[in-house]
Amino acid sequence: MYLVTRRRQLIPLIELLLAAITISTLLYLIYRHSCERFITANSQYDVYDEELSHAELLVDNIVVLGTADSAYLGSDAATLHREYQIPQTKVNYLSEFRNLDKCPVSSEDVAAIGEAAPCYNKNALLESLSSGGRIGLDSPYHSKSCGMWWYGTQQLCNVLAKYSKVMFVGDDVLENIFGGMMLLIREDAMYGAVRQWHYNSIEDMKCSCETAFKNHDLCQSTRVRSLKDLADYDATLLKCPRAGVQMQMNYLPRYPLDPVEVNRFVMAATKDSDFDRRPIAVIYGHGHGSLFDLGAAARWISSLRDMIHNAIPYDVPIYELFVTPGATGPQVSGLNTLSLGLKASQVFESAMRDWGRDVKMDVLGTWNATVQTSFSADGLHGGLHANLLKAMMVSNWLDLVNNGSG
Ligand SMILES: *[C@@H]1O[C@H](CO)[C@@H](O)[C@H](O)[C@H]1NC(C)=O
Repeated sequence: MYLVTRRRQLIPLIELLLAAITISTLLYLIYRHSCERFITANSQYDVYDEELSHAELLVDNIVVLGTADSAYLGSDAATLHREYQIPQTKVNYLSEFRNLDKCPVSSEDVAAIGEAAPCYNKNALLESLSSGGRIGLDSPYHSKSCGMWWYGTQQLCNVLAKYSKVMFVGDDVLENIFGGMMLLIREDAMYGAVRQWHYNSIEDMKCSCETAFKNHDLCQSTRVRSLKDLADYDATLLKCPRAGVQMQMNYLPRYPLDPVEVNRFVMAATKDSDFDRRPIAVIYGHGHGSLFDLGAAARWISSLRDMIHNAIPYDVPIYELFVTPGATGPQVSGLNTLSLGLKASQVFESAMRDWGRDVKMDVLGTWNATVQTSFSADGLHGGLHANLLKAMMVSNWLDLVNNGSG
């Protein structure tokens, strides 16, 4: 008797549950429908991705088939993407990332996306990004005129797939931007920038989340330095296994250049270039390593630039960008104030932008984007948010410089 009553009570309960499930499914469908424009735009990418897989592209491998086509597809996809996918405001593009509970970060905190009409050419992009800024410490960054894109991981992979190599070469500040890139590609807020499987002390274990960026010296030895690092350890860490791009950070902070390090860099940049005719991108970053000495920085870049241009086969396009180190924090004090302080960083940036115009080198200024952010204890290194922003800025440049309209 008792059981029967229990059952009778249960049946309406189950009905109620079923009704709730139906209603939430309906709500979800309505929600999906309202996002349809977004989804349709993404399917452009699925097509592109399939084409790429036909070309049998593998991580850090030589591309054997269809390289010319894939380069062409790259530009095509970029154009389509620029035309059809309007970035959305109020979307957290990082919501699917791993370890957000331990290392909370949202793209909305990084930058205001989708508020202005997107930049359609590279020069307008660089101008707008270099002169954007923030209202309040660590509040989201706003570009000044045209808007930047926030690339979802798959889109970022497609941007990268337009290149055979994306070489980062420079000092600690650039290395942090590379870390931001890796975090985006791995979709891991906590360990994105580091090889956590390489930790060999309690100290190393601090190298995650913010600390991976802010404590540069401590985390130097555990940083991810290439996509190959990831693929060698565990290919599933890569969200774009088929992009077929070699991506590498070459830590070359000092001037005069160390010939051995330079050699390693040039070898890496030229490796397989005879087979893979997609363009090469070189991102330079320098400043702290030469105490903001304009002449040293300019010679540092020029030497590397000459070497790259001499070593890469003539018909492989090379796109180059210099990223300024940005602002330094109020923590820079004492003897360092004059050489590395806020004013020095600003003068350096403005001089490097003039230099870039003279020698026809694209320059991305990050001073205004970083001046109102928090810094490491030494005042030289920005944290996770600032570096995700810079990585996204570089991605925007990579997309626009190589789509035929730059
Ligand atoms: C950045 O802001 C400063 C003033 O705070 C301004 O003088 C400078 O021109 C800005 N930089 C760019 C690239 O617009």
